[in-house]
Amino acid sequence: MNYTEKFRPQYHYSPEKNWMNDPNGLVYYEGEYHLFYQHTPFASQPDFEKMHWGHAVSSDLIYWEELPPALPPGEDGSIFSGSAVVDYHNTSGFFNEEGSGLVAIYTNNGNQAQPGKPQVQSIAYSKDKGRTWTKYEGNPVLFPDTTLDFRDPKVFWHEETSRWIMSLAVKDRVEFYSSPNLKEWTFASGFGADVIGTHRGIYECPDLFSLHVDGDPNKKKWVLILSVGDCNGVNPNDPEPPAGGSGMLYFVGDFDGQVFTPGEAIHSIDDLKWIDFGSDFYAAVTWSNTPEGDGRRLWIGWMNNWRYAGALPTDKWRGHTSIPRELKLRTFTDGIRLVQEPIEEFNRIRSPLATLENVTIEPNANPLVNIVANKAEFIAEFEMATAKEFGFKVRKSENEETVVGYDAVMKKLFVDRTNSGRTDFHPNFAAKHEAPLSPVNHRVRMSIFMDWCSIEVFGGDGTAIISDTIFPDSESNGLELFAVGGNVKLVSLQINDLGSIWQTNDKAKEHARV
Ligand code: FRU
Repeated sequence: MNYTEKFRPQYHYSPEKNWMNDPNGLVYYEGEYHLFYQHTPFASQPDFEKMHWGHAVSSDLIYWEELPPALPPGEDGSIFSGSAVVDYHNTSGFFNEEGSGLVAIYTNNGNQAQPGKPQVQSIAYSKDKGRTWTKYEGNPVLFPDTTLDFRDPKVFWHEETSRWIMSLAVKDRVEFYSSPNLKEWTFASGFGADVIGTHRGIYECPDLFSLHVDGDPNKKKWVLILSVGDCNGVNPNDPEPPAGGSGMLYFVGDFDGQVFTPGEAIHSIDDLKWIDFGSDFYAAVTWSNTPEGDGRRLWIGWMNNWRYAGALPTDKWRGHTSIPRELKLRTFTDGIRLVQEPIEEFNRIRSPLATLENVTIEPNANPLVNIVANKAEFIAEFEMATAKEFGFKVRKSENEETVVGYDAVMKKLFVDRTNSGRTDFHPNFAAKHEAPLSPVNHRVRMSIFMDWCSIEVFGGDGTAIISDTIFPDSESNGLELFAVGGNVKLVSLQINDLGSIWQTNDKAKEHARV
């Protein structure tokens, strides 16, 4: 596989052909990270009647090997989003000979045995490291009373109560269920129906996990993740996510095996915590069972937005993932916040392109004038001076540029993709996206991942994140460091090339196979 088509992501996962949306079934097992995903293998548009779980594996989260689709639709309906776990203690009874194996828990959409209740939860198991799956004959394992939106089961083993917990999106709330064996589920509690400002769209793809606050093993908090769709919610007057369309929220709190209780009350929409201030980070969920001794909580999202997902100007494939990221909880003056960082494994494909230190950036002088790149990483620290705005222009040509900057007056990090290239496929695409970011000791840090069709910016300590797709011409590879209305001190800048994970396919296979 040597992916060189126009706009093809070079170090983000995309299927060779056709449609993908949400990551599904993220699990690490016997040396492999599995990435299943919503996939229509025969069409570049989403076909909700024929949704499969696509499949790829990696040993390092960088090099991916695409495998045949794992779960095909049938009379039980198509295969919507869900999760996968390692059943180490054979609680399911599927692994009497092997002792343990993989179990997938997913939504069947349009199950013919459940007329009028199209979404039910089913399970399947694999005894060969996820290569082949058997659907459980007792499916479905959970079906609704009335609601039509009843989906995206994310399951984990809750140590404290020794049972499985499922988080499920049920229209305007998350419902938690528990089970001793993955087959029988009991309702535990609901969360969200009365959380104001979150109901413009329906809830989708919840995830619940614990993290140590500030890395302190004695201080544990639970994080509830939520994707909120673009419309069909119960309150059309509720606010859109910061960049519009579909977006993601999180809550930090406690979970006792039964009930999730947020730590900070939500009195107004200003108390809501958005995960990403760009337009293209959705349905992100975390890997279960990360390797012993590693302890990181890792996740990946779909780099797209339901508002225009089917209109992206690629047709051989449509949709790709974000970079994998590590999640942490850190205490700030205003509370405990979720922090995202690019995973350290990117060291495998980094090579230095340029470094700068202690340079004053003046208006109309561009220290990067001799460098070209259409994929790269920028790690920068600025010290504020008189400039009102400063930052980078990337994927630049005479007619195109994507601006990644800091507005020193409004104290906002931003990505402006108004003139980034192809924007004509949807009226909302050409836009500027902003994230609040206060300088620390007059300094602003940003780390930028740029690929052939995307930009991911990690601002400050990793709370100000902007993820956006862009569709520039391949010739638009100029770079600029800019300052407007005064100057700014660039304390340090490291520009790294990030190697293609596809053009070295043999290497990819070597990394992906164990
Ligand atoms: C989220 C979502 C899920 C659903 C899947 C269908 O993007 O709408 O709620 O399971 O996509 O492909």
